[in-house]
Amino acid sequence: MRVRKKLSFYITPRINLTLYKGHLPVGWGHLDPQDGKTWLGVAVAQGYAKKGYGSMIVKKLCEYADNAGWNLHLTCKKELTKWYQKFEFIYIERKNGKDYCYRRSRVYR
Ligand SMILES: CC(C)(COP(=O)(O)OP(=O)(O)OC[C@H]1O[C@@H](n2cnc3c(N)ncnc32)[C@H](O)[C@@H]1OP(=O)(O)O)[C@@H](O)C(=O)NCCC(=O)NCCS
Repeated sequence: MRVRKKLSFYITPRINLTLYKGHLPVGWGHLDPQDGKTWLGVAVAQGYAKKGYGSMIVKKLCEYADNAGWNLHLTCKKELTKWYQKFEFIYIERKNGKDYCYRRSRVYR
């Protein structure tokens, strides 16, 4: 029997960040509110990894979140949790196949 999964909409305001090299977009980041939390995501364009762009984007988003007083959450691959520690994220747990990290806003430290 085919199980029907419940569909749900999330329409949320989102903070979008694009990093440009000249006129070329080379990386993206975002902060999304969902379930009372703020979730961070980041990606760098193919061919532009390991040049420090991902770090620049995460730093900028953390700065934005600190100014707003937001704690941040993210899910990532286990091997990236160490990288996120550089930006003061702490590893929380592995749940349903995902690794969760958390960063407390500097405002509340
Ligand atoms: C993760 C990502 C944003 C990093 O961006 P980046 O510009 O390459 O990162 P930086 O140049 O600032 O930092 C490089 C460091 O990131 C870490 N890193 C990057 N990709 C990694 C990977 N796949 N596994 C483990 N560590 C990784 C390493 O510590 C690396 O340092 P090294 O060069 O000494 O190995 C980029 O690889 C990406 O877009 N990945 C696909 C999308 C994704 O996984 N996003 C994160 C989920 S929210």
